[in-house]
Amino acid sequence: MNRFIQYNPVKWIFGKGSIGRLQAEMSRFGKNILLVYGGGSIKRNGLYDEVIESLQAIHTNVYELSGVEPNPRLDTVHKGVEICKKENIDFILAVGGGSVIDSAKAIAAGAKYEGNVWEVISRGKVIKEALPLGTILTLAATGSEMNAGLVITNLATSQKIDWHSQYVFPQFSICDPSYSVTVPPEQTVLGIIDIMCHILENYFHNGEHTELQDSFSEITLKTLIETAPRLLAEPDNYDDRAKVMYAGTIALNGTLQSGYRGDWTAHIIEHALSGLYDIPHAGGLAILFPVWMKHAIDSHPARFAQLAVRVFGVDGTGKTEKEVGYEGIEALRNFWMTLGAPARLADYGIDSSRLEEIAEHSMMRGEFGRFYRMDRERILAILRD
Ligand code: NZQ
Ligand code: ZN
Repeated sequence: MNRFIQYNPVKWIFGKGSIGRLQAEMSRFGKNILLVYGGGSIKRNGLYDEVIESLQAIHTNVYELSGVEPNPRLDTVHKGVEICKKENIDFILAVGGGSVIDSAKAIAAGAKYEGNVWEVISRGKVIKEALPLGTILTLAATGSEMNAGLVITNLATSQKIDWHSQYVFPQFSICDPSYSVTVPPEQTVLGIIDIMCHILENYFHNGEHTELQDSFSEITLKTLIETAPRLLAEPDNYDDRAKVMYAGTIALNGTLQSGYRGDWTAHIIEHALSGLYDIPHAGGLAILFPVWMKHAIDSHPARFAQLAVRVFGVDGTGKTEKEVGYEGIEALRNFWMTLGAPARLADYGIDSSRLEEIAEHSMMRGEFGRFYRMDRERILAILRD
């Protein structure tokens, strides 16, 4: 296990009725609030009214930024920054999924930055301050509620870029699984795939003596595999929604990432892909991750065999590690396909005309892949497969 520092100051407020904590949490901050939300799901399920009622009870001035898009846009972030600067916003409250939370983080950084916040995100600039923000999570997927990352799309350049800063950690995140019962089946599946990929990105590392983290990752994957089909049959099952929401947060809040550095190739290529084609993040991952695994298996077949046996119950008797690993990869892809996930770029109508561009955008920060090194040729090989 390698040396590490883990820092996570987010107050994680989990469970049914957690919104009851909102007033107490907000009372620590100023009165001018920017409420950020998406295309209307929170109005349809009643959460918006609950939030407004709570905020009015503590006499806050609420300004609103609605219409945050999936694959959230820079233009919308700019609108939020403008409101913050004009209205002297003290605190940003994000109510929604990863796109809403990521936008709120970008707005928080932009509100304290003199220039265009895209400079910060695209150049990976280090900032010294941001407005404080809090979140109410409605969709289990990205882990953004308890991490310091964001991903924003600039339509003008077709780039989708991630950026991290400890100043955009939420002050608190209210995670009530009941708010996720209205997430439609397709989005529920995408959320589960994203969570599984966050675990898998970290699972493929070159660290040693990580048996404890391995087991935690494996049991979390198995729990998601057991839960997903049940949840599709019974979308309002609170206990299953709770398991998925809990898994989503721990998958990317540092817990399953300490003691080693994961690979993250599929995510890097996927961000380039959805920047150019505006496809759902986890849809891209469902296509790319199994292909990446097939390309990476030779670099460390034992790791793939371990996943296959422990998570997918593959019988390894009389087979090589690579054969066992391959069966695991097939099991993973088949599992996602049975949930209705895409398996090929063509499923999104993507042909081979812009593969070079996807590779170029992926390489924006140079070569990557800590477990299996990526360069331009290897990216293209994955995209063509
Ligand atoms: O916009 P509304 O109307 O709220 O509808 C949303 C949206 O259409 C809907 N939804 C959310 N909660 C709902 C609901 N519908 C009904 N009931 C509810 N309770 O779901 C749709 C998708 O929402 P979105 O926020 O886009 O999904 P997700 O949470 O998967 O976020 C995806 C974004 O996060 C980025 C992705 O790249 C993508 O841009 N990521 C962020 C990460 C991070 N910050 O750490 C890491 C991830 O790897 C990922 O890259
Ligand atoms: Zn992801």
